[in-house]
Amino acid sequence: MSGGLLFSCAQPDAAAEATLSDLMRERTNQLQEVKKAVEAGLQPEGELFAYEAFTHGTPSRPALGEPGVQGQLMAFESFYARFALDPSLKNYNTVIQTCMSCHERLCPGPLRLIRSLSIEAVEAPAFELYSRD
Ligand code: HEC
Repeated sequence: MSGGLLFSCAQPDAAAEATLSDLMRERTNQLQEVKKAVEAGLQPEGELFAYEAFTHGTPSRPALGEPGVQGQLMAFESFYARFALDPSLKNYNTVIQTCMSCHERLCPGPLRLIRSLSIEAVEAPAFELYSRD
């Protein structure tokens, strides 16, 4: 159909945009690496703190694009930015708590996976080196 070509410039390039779930899965993988590093007594650093904001992800349904949900995603990113700036155990677990409280309401599927990211105690000083508490 030739009509499609005429309008192709105005179409958003869906393939170039990450979905909200993609970004959440990436951050989950990253947090698993942070947890591994901390448990091995290493300081999490560098690319473990490079991320794309959840507000840039394309949601799977329009309701998730509404201001109520986007505002919660923005609030989450401010907790996450604080953690990236000061990666203490306390800030890390605040992040995981915030993941869980949203998921309990909006998307319970990955709750077990998210809970498994919590760090109860660390014997190695990895987080304490950063903590300004
Ligand atoms: C403000 C709400 C909110 C916060 C905060 C949040 N999520 Fe999500 N998450 C969602 C929603 C809603 C989806 C589904 C997105 C969609 O369908 O487009 C999702 C999707 C996911 C998925 C993909 C699920 C699948 O089926 O592929 C994972 C994994 C995930 N989130 C993990 C996390 C982790 C880890 C955190 C914290 C670092 C987090 N989420 C923070 C709401 C949230």
